[in-house]
Amino acid sequence: MAATHPRKPKQTKPKQNTTMKKNSIIRNAGKAIALAAAALFIAQPLSAADKEGAVNMADANAIKKAAIQGKAEVKIAELGAAKAEHAEVKALATKLVAHHTAMNTEIAALAAAKGVDLTAANDPDAEKTVMSLEKESGKDFDKAFLNAVQETHEECIDAFEEQSKDAKDGEWKAWVDKSLPMVRAHHEAAEALEEKL
Ligand SMILES: [Fe+2]
Repeated sequence: MAATHPRKPKQTKPKQNTTMKKNSIIRNAGKAIALAAAALFIAQPLSAADKEGAVNMADANAIKKAAIQGKAEVKIAELGAAKAEHAEVKALATKLVAHHTAMNTEIAALAAAKGVDLTAANDPDAEKTVMSLEKESGKDFDKAFLNAVQETHEECIDAFEEQSKDAKDGEWKAWVDKSLPMVRAHHEAAEALEEKL
């Protein structure tokens, strides 16, 4: 901006008064612009990212996604715990319900602390998976269930690995790093059991 260009180099004595006046006008003009800019900035409503403890938009979306995936895991695992035929599949499903319920509680607490709204967080794909699993029974159910667990966990692992690199919020990243080994272990367990069936 022309009004904020740096001061001119010092002039010789006779010209000094004029120069000082000019500089003072320039300074005042600069101040006025700065004040106007500050007023504009203040006039903006505070977004979630400006609130204390809040996260940026990308982190907020990732937290929402994790909450949605977590809810889906619990729904699928609850069905597995109720319907699995094989004792080990039932045991894995029961463990998944416990682990993901605990994880979801942690995600909800983190979201609340970071100003992330989870009220509309639902996954239509999870509903479809649950509906198709409900149609199966016996060994077919066990297989379909273990497949669903692997699929959803692959998505979750991908998302968490990305967040482990990209997350800006330290607490969110720490939670992701803490949770990743468990999510990987669930995936491996489902894979190993499927080979057993
Ligand atoms: Fe899991």
